[in-house]
Order: sequence, then structure tokens, then C-alpha cells
Amino acid sequence: MRGSHLKPSTSRRSSLSLLLALVLPILLSACTWGGNHSPLNPASGPTETVNRLWWIMFWMSIVIEALVAGLVVISLIRFRRKAGDPDPVQISGNTRIEIAWTIAPAMILVVLLVLTLTTMVNISEPKGTTMRVTVTGHQWWWEFDYQGMNIVTGNEMHIPLDEPVHIDLRSADVIHSFWVPSLAGKRDAIPGHDNTLWISANKPGTYRGECTEFCGPEHANMNFIVVAQPRAEFDAWVKQQQAPAVSDQTGLAADGRDLVQNASVACIACHTINGTNLKAKVGPNLTHIGTRQYIAAGTLENNQQNLMRWIHNPQEVKPENKMIIPPYDDDTVRKIVAYLQSLK
Ligand code: CUA
Repeated sequence: MRGSHLKPSTSRRSSLSLLLALVLPILLSACTWGGNHSPLNPASGPTETVNRLWWIMFWMSIVIEALVAGLVVISLIRFRRKAGDPDPVQISGNTRIEIAWTIAPAMILVVLLVLTLTTMVNISEPKGTTMRVTVTGHQWWWEFDYQGMNIVTGNEMHIPLDEPVHIDLRSADVIHSFWVPSLAGKRDAIPGHDNTLWISANKPGTYRGECTEFCGPEHANMNFIVVAQPRAEFDAWVKQQQAPAVSDQTGLAADGRDLVQNASVACIACHTINGTNLKAKVGPNLTHIGTRQYIAAGTLENNQQNLMRWIHNPQEVKPENKMIIPPYDDDTVRKIVAYLQSLK
């Protein structure tokens, strides 16, 4: 029983290492502040403004906490009762101190109120925002409909750098919540109630977004990305997305196209592919699915292997999701996947 003979210094050292082991990962992970997926790593004017306010509040709290905890510790040490000490002087009320500790916190709160109100004004939507996107939350994916641009994407939003984009937020079923931590605040998508939000980015990159309101079994797999790109790149993307789906497939992809368009497989019941006879709006628009980075709302990277896994059995990847299809044989799946990958 060596453990029971530990010297005090050894046990102190082991509790210190335990503490370090617990705290160090948190400190280290804080170095990156969550990459492109954190309000502490802002990449837009509004999130930078909110982030500044957050840090001011953080340091003010640290100072106040240090002051209060410091006074408590000093009192504990300095005024500790020793053996034989008489009872201390009994005080009831001290008007001057009471006024001070009422006014000081009130002033701190007024400062924070002014800073918060200024921040709220500074992050309001700029006038004359021309680009508008209707974002609809579905169980469990996001639809992005670029108003007047004839572009509908699923789980992938592109925005031009340094330009505000107005969002009309809707829900097709239950309450969801739209959040891209690095780019904008969070807003609920409520059925029957239109909400709005605006979004922008001042650093190019791919930002992760997600649903932040529990909305059913696949709530955790209701992610999306926002790709912020310079104007020219964004325009090229727009041009590509506006084009109808390519139809000059060959080989396996052509076989897949025939299966999909002749309704030999279930795709036509739920999906749209612009320029074909697929016009249903139950699931995501697949017109340019070959260009998207992820499938199944950020659940899997978009590649051949994952597409096959998904079409073989979507319920295995995302249990209880709304895509319920018969089991297809390998050959059929391979053809469908070849066709989907050709949709660039
Ligand atoms: Cu949608 Cu949670």
C-alpha cells in the first residue's frame, strides 16, 4: 500500500500536476480561440465590435473579482481571531460605506450600459443592403435562396467580402437557430414568423455555422458553411450556380443521370436539379451538388466514398433524418454518385 504512505509534499505535487493537466488543455485550446468558429475569433465588423465589448467586460470583471477576493483574503489573514481576543466592536450600519458601495457598482453598470447601447447601434444593419438571401431551416439542413438571383443551395452559403448581406430567416418545421459565430449574432428561425439578420465578412475564408436551438434527433448534425470570397471570385461562383445542371455526362455518370431523371430511383420525389425534370422541394436543391464541400449538412465531406455511404443508407449516417429510400445495389449507387459528382 504505497499510496497510503505518500508524503504530504508528494501528494501536493500530484494534485498540482492534476490541476495543470485539467487547466492546460483549456489554456492551449484558447490559443486558437476555436478557429473560424468562435465569437472570440471575429471576422466581421459587428463581431469585432461585440468582441471588443466582451473583452472590456472580461477585464473589468477580472479587476473587480481580484479586488473583492483580495479584500476577503486580507480580512481573513489580518483580522483573524486569536486565542484570548475580546469580541470585536459591534457595528450596525455605516452610511458612508453603504453610499459608496451603492454608487460604485451603479456607475460601473452605467458605463457598461452606455458601451452596450453604443455597440448595439454600431452593429445595426447598414442602410441600402442590396443582396438578400432567404435562409430556411429544415429538419436537419439549411436552404439558402438568393433572392432574384435564381440560386438555391443547401448547407453552403457564399458571400462577397466586405459587403453586407441581408438574411430573411424562416423555418419549414420547428424552431431552429442560425449562428455563424465568427461572422454574426445568433437568430432563431421560427415557423410562421419571419425574422431578419444581416451578415458580412472582412476576412476571406470558410466559416462554420450551425443550428443552436434543439430541433430533434439530428440537431447536432445541422451545420453549414459560409464561404467569404473577394467580389470577382463570388461573381464567378454566382455564374456557375446560375447555370443549369450539365447534361453531357458520359459513362457511369450518364447511366446515373438516366436512372435519376427517369425516376428509376427515388431522388425525383424530393429534390430539384435545375434544367432537369427534378423539381421537388422536400430535400436540398442538388443542381450543383458536385461543387459543395460537405454533404448531409456538414456531417460528411463531399467525396465519392461518403456519397456512396450516404446513398446506401442515409439512416446509418444520420439516424431519423427525412431521407428514407429503398436499399439500392452497389452498381446503382455507383451510377447515382457518378452523376451527382458530375453536377458542377
Ligand atoms: Cu435545427 Cu437544431
